[in-house]
Amino acid sequence: MPKYLVVSTSGNPDSNSRRMGRVAFRHLQKAKVDCEWLDISELGLPLCDADACYTQPAAQKLSGVIKAADAILVATPVYNYDVSAAAKNMVELTGSAWENKIVGFLCAAGGMSSYMSVMAFANSLMLDFRCVIIPRFVYATGDAFEGDDLKDKKVGKRIEELADELVRFGQALRS
Ligand SMILES: Cc1cc2nc3c(=O)[nH]c(=O)nc-3n(C[C@H](O)[C@H](O)[C@H](O)COP(=O)(O)O)c2cc1C
Repeated sequence: MPKYLVVSTSGNPDSNSRRMGRVAFRHLQKAKVDCEWLDISELGLPLCDADACYTQPAAQKLSGVIKAADAILVATPVYNYDVSAAAKNMVELTGSAWENKIVGFLCAAGGMSSYMSVMAFANSLMLDFRCVIIPRFVYATGDAFEGDDLKDKKVGKRIEELADELVRFGQALRS
């Protein structure tokens, strides 16, 4: 049975991308697939120094969780027309653990114009680690949320569709 992971990469306690990740995770749980939730802000990860960082327990734990998954949804803030530095650091710390994964994206942004911001990150996963990127990104701005809730039903539906695609791709990988 394929394993699914939703990973949140925002350090903000009031994070919208984390809220999007939780919606996806709840949908995967309802579908009764084997899924795990990981919030990297809780791990106390080191910055990648290409040296001692790899031996740190937090980095090793992160590598293990990523390696164990077949298909991963990355929930990320858009910072400076890119994913968060924390998301990039996660890949720098774990490298080959990403090999041959299915990867999808949930992005929270401040404005509508940064919708292509995950492409450099997606390309690096494709070209370095032969990840298959699901061509159905979910992108939302602050208007989609009210307090702790996702109020925009269209965004909610798109998140569920992406989670369903993650399962479809994951099953295809294992068949
Ligand atoms: C350092 C920084 C850079 C940002 N850069 C962008 C940007 O390039 N494009 C954009 O639309 N929003 C940008 N934003 C707004 C964030 O994407 C927005 O606050 C989003 O909700 C962050 O995700 P989070 O709530 O999951 O932490 C930036 C915010 C910060 C703090």
